[in-house]
Amino acid sequence: KRASDLRTRLFEVNKMAANYYYYQLTSEQGKTALEYLRKRELKEETIKKFGLGYSTKYSNDLYQYFKSKNYEDSLLRQTGLFTYDEARGVYDKFWNRVMFPILDVNNKVIGFGGRVMGEGAPKYLNSPETTVFDKSRNLFGLNFARLSRKRSILLCEGYMDVIALQQAGFQNAVASLGTAFTFQQANLLKRYADEVFITYDSDKAGVNAALRAIPILKEAGLSAKVIHMNPYKDPDEFIKALGESEFEKRIEKASNSFLFEVAVLERDFDFSDPEQKTNFYQETAKKLCRFSDELERNNYVEAVARKYMISQEDLKKLVNRYGASL
Ligand code: UTP
Ligand code: MN
Ligand code: MN
Ligand code: MN
Ligand code: MN
Repeated sequence: KRASDLRTRLFEVNKMAANYYYYQLTSEQGKTALEYLRKRELKEETIKKFGLGYSTKYSNDLYQYFKSKNYEDSLLRQTGLFTYDEARGVYDKFWNRVMFPILDVNNKVIGFGGRVMGEGAPKYLNSPETTVFDKSRNLFGLNFARLSRKRSILLCEGYMDVIALQQAGFQNAVASLGTAFTFQQANLLKRYADEVFITYDSDKAGVNAALRAIPILKEAGLSAKVIHMNPYKDPDEFIKALGESEFEKRIEKASNSFLFEVAVLERDFDFSDPEQKTNFYQETAKKLCRFSDELERNNYVEAVARKYMISQEDLKKLVNRYGASL
């Protein structure tokens, strides 16, 4: 009973903080922040929908606000919005940042991300984990994405990716919260979707994160496909450059997750060297052994053989060799 009381009170403080940040964004002080969001091509209605805000340059504005309303430190301490320092006293965690409230599927504010405007480190500062904020069990944007009629999800890296995609009409976009995608998040997605399109950044970090997310999605019983954003960095930049119809085409051309893995593997091998070429086929054959269903395995053998110029017979022989030694 007491624990749920605490949760209720934390939701309330977070909600008030979100309103406070939103109010600051629309005030004189928030002009630069609002300009920043406009430059990033966010519409007024998008800013409202996501409840974006601004944390001022003053070191304890938000804290003073709650103190003026007689909120107790015992509660405020647990919000993660303030730093309690022996020597310097209490000050706000977020200063001079554009604020992104993080909502759970029930539209409760559970935490925040704050972006510096322009350069600066860290680029995003996030709320710490609290009684109501478990990063491994929530996804940014899912409160809206769950309302999408589609039974698919676009899984992105960042806040801005989700916002840009949803603004462009892709309401099914979500992002994991600056951490690695988890089983709990996959299970959460399973309630609302059957298929997940991984829409991570096109850089090395994004490719590696996609490789890690694929088995997690499969384990949860979701079908996983990978969307390519190149030559752009991420969905936000892609949408800005090419628009929603081109993005739609990328969804249609999404890679099968196994073929994506093989394509990533291929980059490590130089096919003009027969030894490396052989090694590539061996590694791929080992991967093909994962498919225990014979028909499925044969379909993948066929696809790989066609794409990488090896006869189905030869590839099948290799697969059987590794399969037999399992
Ligand atoms: P990116 O570095 O790809 O940033 O981080 P971005 O989302 O494209 O940001 P913009 O477009 O420059 O504004 C992807 C996500 O990783 C988390 C954030 O959730 C971010 O949206 N992240 C990144 C952090 O939590 N902290 C950081 O310092 C950087
Ligand atoms: Mn990135
Ligand atoms: Mn990054
Ligand atoms: Mn990015
Ligand atoms: Mn970006």
